[in-house]
Amino acid sequence: MFNDSLPTFWSIWVAIITLIVILGCLWLVLAVKKSEKYKEETEHTVGHAFDGIEEFDNPLPRWWYMKFLGTIVFGLGYLVLYPGLGNFQGILNWSSTGQWQEEMAAAEVKYGPVFAAFGEKSIEELAKDPAALEVGGRLFANNCAVCHGSGAKGAYGFPNLTDEDWLYGGSPEKIKESLNLGRMANMPAWQGILGDAGIEETSHYVVSLSGRAHDEALAAKGQAHFQTYCAACHMPTGQGMQMLGAPNLTDDVWLYKAPNLTVLESVKQTLRHGRQGVMPAQLPRLGEDKVHLLTAYVYSLSQK
Ligand code: HEC
Ligand code: HEC
Repeated sequence: MFNDSLPTFWSIWVAIITLIVILGCLWLVLAVKKSEKYKEETEHTVGHAFDGIEEFDNPLPRWWYMKFLGTIVFGLGYLVLYPGLGNFQGILNWSSTGQWQEEMAAAEVKYGPVFAAFGEKSIEELAKDPAALEVGGRLFANNCAVCHGSGAKGAYGFPNLTDEDWLYGGSPEKIKESLNLGRMANMPAWQGILGDAGIEETSHYVVSLSGRAHDEALAAKGQAHFQTYCAACHMPTGQGMQMLGAPNLTDDVWLYKAPNLTVLESVKQTLRHGRQGVMPAQLPRLGEDKVHLLTAYVYSLSQK
């Protein structure tokens, strides 16, 4: 009957003010009705004129008066039945959360079997099944497109899921792992260790790995830094390590290429400040069957 969304004091405060306002309206309507001045219709006017138009000072028409009373009765009735008076839930015990949960439960009963049926097929099979991909595409639009884009092509900081370049691996098992548990990348910040000169040199070496324009002398110095500080995660060749989500730096695909910066400047930013990309875990939100279907959808995007 009562929830605890407000502290008791404020709950009572809100309830009392609400009632005072409604009862105040009731008093006003009745008081005006009773007033001698409004007993009957007269030719008196309120005393002002706009462009020669005057206004009679008369009682409210009866239907209008009844409508006022009706709204007040409706308002009080509503507050008895539904939440509105502070923490009082109303005698129906209705809540929007409760209604949402009922709708979700009803949807689960209706659509659960559909997803369960997809859940029994293998990901490779689903990735070729147009009906499954259509439902998967809708799930993607609702749950993933905010970050990965409606075409799944990604954006600054959000990986493209349609290419063959994977941070964590593009096999059905690895994609499912990314979805189920989420991913948390950790690329440390290097400003403190490398300093401005070191960042400059290492960045030139990094862009040289994918054949981009670079300064030979700086890159040669950067290579030494790279082998000392970076090879542990990005491998001595710079080809990355999927276990850590450390990207391949040799393929000219950039997760953190800022739209207003060159690749070289973007790499410097990454090195100075580090990067911590987070992919939220989906299993607790969507359940096994939907994750299974989404895995097939994502897997299908990069299969030619
Ligand atoms: C502890 C492991 C680790 C070390 C050490 C490390 N990195 Fe990284 N690096 C990562 C991870 C993980 C990412 C992905 C970050 C993300 O997805 O948010 C990353 C991302 C990057 C990127 C961004 C690539 C892109 O596509 O935009 C660059 C560039 C980079 N690292 C270069 C370096 C350099 C140069 C060093 C050495 C100075 C270094 N990293 C050291 C783990 C590491
Ligand atoms: C809040 C933003 C966000 C949402 C929502 C989100 N993702 Fe991600 N996702 C990311 C980020 C950021 C990464 C990269 C993490 C990193 O930097 O290592 C990622 C990584 C991934 C990867 C790994 C890519 C690779 O190259 O290995 C897959 C697969 C993926 N997401 C699929 C999905 C799917 C499917 C959904 C919807 C159920 C989804 N994501 C929802 C932000 C999001």
